[in-house]
Amino acid sequence: MKLSIGISLLAVTVLLLAPPFPEAPAGFDNKTNGMVDDATHAADQAKFDETEALDDGLGPLYNTQSCRECHQNPTSGGPSQVTELRVGHSGPRGEFVNPEIPIARGTEIIKGRSLVNDRAICPNAAFPGTEIQERVPDSETIRTFRVSLNVLGDGFVEAVPDQTFVDLAKDQCKKNHKICGQVLYVPIVEAPGQTRVGRFGWKDQQASLLSFAADAYLNEMGITSRLQPDEVTNLCNTVAEPNDKTGPDGLSDIDHFARFIRATETPARDAQTAQTPKARLGAELFDKVGCDTCHVQTLTTAPAGTNLNGGTFTVPPALGGKQFHPYGDFLLHNVGTGDGIVQSMTEHYGKKMYQITWKNLSGNCLRKGPFPVPYLVSFLC
Ligand code: HEC
Ligand code: HEC
Repeated sequence: MKLSIGISLLAVTVLLLAPPFPEAPAGFDNKTNGMVDDATHAADQAKFDETEALDDGLGPLYNTQSCRECHQNPTSGGPSQVTELRVGHSGPRGEFVNPEIPIARGTEIIKGRSLVNDRAICPNAAFPGTEIQERVPDSETIRTFRVSLNVLGDGFVEAVPDQTFVDLAKDQCKKNHKICGQVLYVPIVEAPGQTRVGRFGWKDQQASLLSFAADAYLNEMGITSRLQPDEVTNLCNTVAEPNDKTGPDGLSDIDHFARFIRATETPARDAQTAQTPKARLGAELFDKVGCDTCHVQTLTTAPAGTNLNGGTFTVPPALGGKQFHPYGDFLLHNVGTGDGIVQSMTEHYGKKMYQITWKNLSGNCLRKGPFPVPYLVSFLC
């Protein structure tokens, strides 16, 4: 008994004396966090900043011509004021139903996604009579704009173990205020059958930055890739699929985007403001009233060498065993600001998503039965 007390005291002492995990590098200086060298990072950033054109496979429906147009402030990878339109309507049982958007004078209906693209590549010289601009019909009464998010430092978020979020949700539930956050297991598109705790996007719809890059390349820019090989429409489409080809270095654009994001530093805190008495008081209050229950201040990444994303990504030393301060809420919480849009499975994970059996996919978040397509429920499943 004495011995075990002795051992646990020793363990506590060792824990207390153990140095804290090193801080993830922070800054807005376009430097790498050390995962790659600065030249590689600059080249990856050039891909993220690149303006795509018709012969790269842009569109047919799209929002903008480069990732940077929406992820830019104050440097590539930061957020922006650019918003995206999502719509849908309620079905007979009050369930969310994806919109049906007619294009080409009603000869084709875009289905299976809530996103409405702002731009289209035609009519153009090759297709002067094909008018495919998406317009929202009156029937789609649920409408929202979602603002562009920051991606700087997201490599650290990706490297947080699933268990951290599972434990956070449990702890929240146990405490007096019972703010039970929910974890959502979502598909890893590059590891068919494998799932992981979602943490990216307003609804935690992705867990892997490579999956997100392919999702964004298709849905924001209309560029198909090996992970998202199907166009939203084939009208006016002239470039062979997948549009995103493997380069001489063996990498496609989506690989460069994912590596760029993984190698970014975390957003730096405004040190000057943080020292002011008001900010210090605010920080105290933030913890005191429980904001930090959801907006957790410090997270720690898995050790270097840990396999993530269904074994397709190994945490490199630059990302492993680091602490960082995202203040983000990576669990699903209904805080009364729900936009009523339920995530479409095929939009985010590809049209073949239902031909795959996904291990541990958040089953109670899938609605089947009377509805034509199952949906990923937005906040509470
Ligand atoms: C038209 C604007 C726009 C473009 C272009 C765009 N994004 Fe985004 N991005 C967004 C918005 C809006 C969100 C939030 C999406 C949501 O959850 O509904 C987002 C979210 C993300 C996230 C998740 C960030 C987080 O921490 O949750 C990643 C990663 C991302 N985008 C990568 C990319 C990449 C890579 C490209 C280029 C292939 C790209 N985006 C192009 C607007 C854009
Ligand atoms: C129950 C969990 C929870 C608690 C507690 C909570 N928040 Fe939030 N907070 C959220 C969620 C979820 C969002 C995203 C809301 C949305 O999608 O509309 C958010 C968004 C925010 C945003 C906007 C962030 C952005 O990037 O747009 C701010 C600022 C914020 N919260 C501050 C606070 C403060 C201050 C407190 C304490 C008074 C607090 N929150 C308490 C869950 C929480």
